[in-house]
Order: sequence, then structure tokens, then C-alpha cells
Amino acid sequence: MIDKINKLKEEKNAIILAHNYQPKEILKIADFVGDSLELCIKAKEADSDIIVFAGVDFMAESAKILNPDKKVLLPEVEGTKCPMAHQLNKDIILKYKEKYSAPLVVYVNTTAETKALADITCTSANADKIVSSLDSDIILFGPDKNLAYYVKKKTGKNIINIPEDGGCYVHQKFTLEDVYRVRKLYPKAILLVHPECNPEVQEKADIITSTSGMVRYVLNSDEEEFIIGTERDLIGRIELELEKLGLNKKLIPLRDDAICKEMKRITLNKILESLEKEKYEINLDEEIIDKAKKAIERMIELSKN
Ligand code: 13P
Ligand code: SF4
Repeated sequence: MIDKINKLKEEKNAIILAHNYQPKEILKIADFVGDSLELCIKAKEADSDIIVFAGVDFMAESAKILNPDKKVLLPEVEGTKCPMAHQLNKDIILKYKEKYSAPLVVYVNTTAETKALADITCTSANADKIVSSLDSDIILFGPDKNLAYYVKKKTGKNIINIPEDGGCYVHQKFTLEDVYRVRKLYPKAILLVHPECNPEVQEKADIITSTSGMVRYVLNSDEEEFIIGTERDLIGRIELELEKLGLNKKLIPLRDDAICKEMKRITLNKILESLEKEKYEINLDEEIIDKAKKAIERMIELSKN
């Protein structure tokens, strides 16, 4: 299957972009693996004819928005909808915009329609930087309330989260009990958590960062043991990097059941079928692309400095 995928990639001038949460067998056939911000940048720079996305819906949509002349394929459609990305919609935005005259910052974990209404997007890697750069003390922000908590703490700004209770079901699973239980078993380990985790879990963490931030932290640290507070397969991603460097460190999941089932709907078989039949192509309205592109490109520009 891997040979067939590689052959088709070459024949069709295609690349595979994969998110850090994909399992090892998919990471191994990917041309690039990264967090949401890095994947946006790669998609924008891609000069292949086809981009196959091993990730969830909003990631493939962002690739299409940033590089609309390319054929962007998502190997599975129905099962790969990130639930959080569908928690913020036009009606909610218009309701809040009526009430507050403030810039709207949306997480990239949103639909293309939502991005088209935003002043700028952000990811877990740059949310505080993006919010700090805006010339307003009051910010409309959505949909993740835990990322909003993190940004508020970092920037001191008045962050109004829309909708009030947006969030990711995978990261909301982590509790203080998990932290106490795992810390007791591994008292010397560094606890890294994603900013999508609940505030009380963030408060106990040593490091709060994006998925690629975690990869870099573990690789560059002199420490030997790390508790990983995000989707479980990030551990496989870090292990592959450690293997390449001939390093061996202990990686402990904060919970064994922190699994994003939408990410896991992508399989090698579906990637092969996607390349063979060129399905499922992402198609978006041109006006939406133009508006959403401005919001994402503004974020990419600000992330460079
Ligand atoms: P990252 O941008 O940190 O990879 O996060 C994406 C995501 O969906 C986390 O759940
Ligand atoms: Fe969406 Fe959560 Fe899965 Fe990330 S982990 S893609 S936010 S459901």
C-alpha cells in the first residue's frame, strides 16, 4: 500500500500534509507533518498539483483557502468534521458584533464561513501574539473558551468568548485528578499541556504550548520524562523524531483515552483511494475564499515577526 501511495504521489505530482495527531504509519508517508500554523504555511507554499490532507475538515479548508488553484483532497469527509470548528457560526457572530464593537479573532478550528467574518485567525501557537498585536483592549474570540482563558491570562485583555462554552471534547477530558494521579507516578516528569485544556489543568502545567511546541520542547530539553496533555498520538509523533536523533525519553500520556476520533478516520487505505480517485475535493465559494484568505494571511504575516 505504501509503495502504491508513493507511486501515485509521484505520478500525480501530489503531496501529503499530515497533522501531528495522525498515527505513525501515516506520519511516515507524509511529506510534511506539523501543527495547524505550520500546515497553513506549508499549504500556502505548496507547488504540487494536488494536496492530500491527513487531518480534519478545517485544516483541508484552510489549505484550499490559502492555495485555491490546487486540488485539495480530504480522504474522508463525514467523519473528519472537528466538532469544535462547528460551534461558532454566522448567527452567533452577528449577535455579538451587534453588541460589541471589537475585533473578531477566530481560532483556525472554524469553518471557512466563520473565518470569512473574522478580522484575523489564530492558532494555539500564536493566539496571545495575535491578540496582543490588535489595537483594542476588548476582543471577540471564539470558539474555544479554554484557549480564551489562556490568551486572557497572557495578554491581560478583555476576551469575550463566543459562544460562551465552546471547546474540544478531547482536551476537556483532562481533569485535576488526572494531573495528581500521573504526577504521583512520575514525580520528576515535566507536564506539557495544550491550551485547549481546562483552566485548572493549565494552572498545574509546567509548559502550555501547541502540538509542535511540545515536540520541540521534548527534543530540546535535557529532562528525561514528560507527561503529554494532548491527543494521545502526539506521543508517536515525538517518538519518531526521537528515533531519528537516536534519543530515548519517557513519554507518558496524561490520559490513555484522549483520542480525537475525527483525526483517526484517516487511514492509509483511504489515502490511497483518495489519490486514486482524486476524492474528496474541497470546493469553497470564491467570495468566502477571498475573505477568509485575508484573515489567515494576516495571521501568517504577524506570526513571522
Ligand atoms: P495545534 O495547532 O496545536 O496542532 O492544535 C490543533 C488541534 O486541533 C488541537 O486539538
Ligand atoms: Fe478538533 Fe479537538 Fe480533534 Fe483538535 S483534538 S481536531 S480541536 S476535536
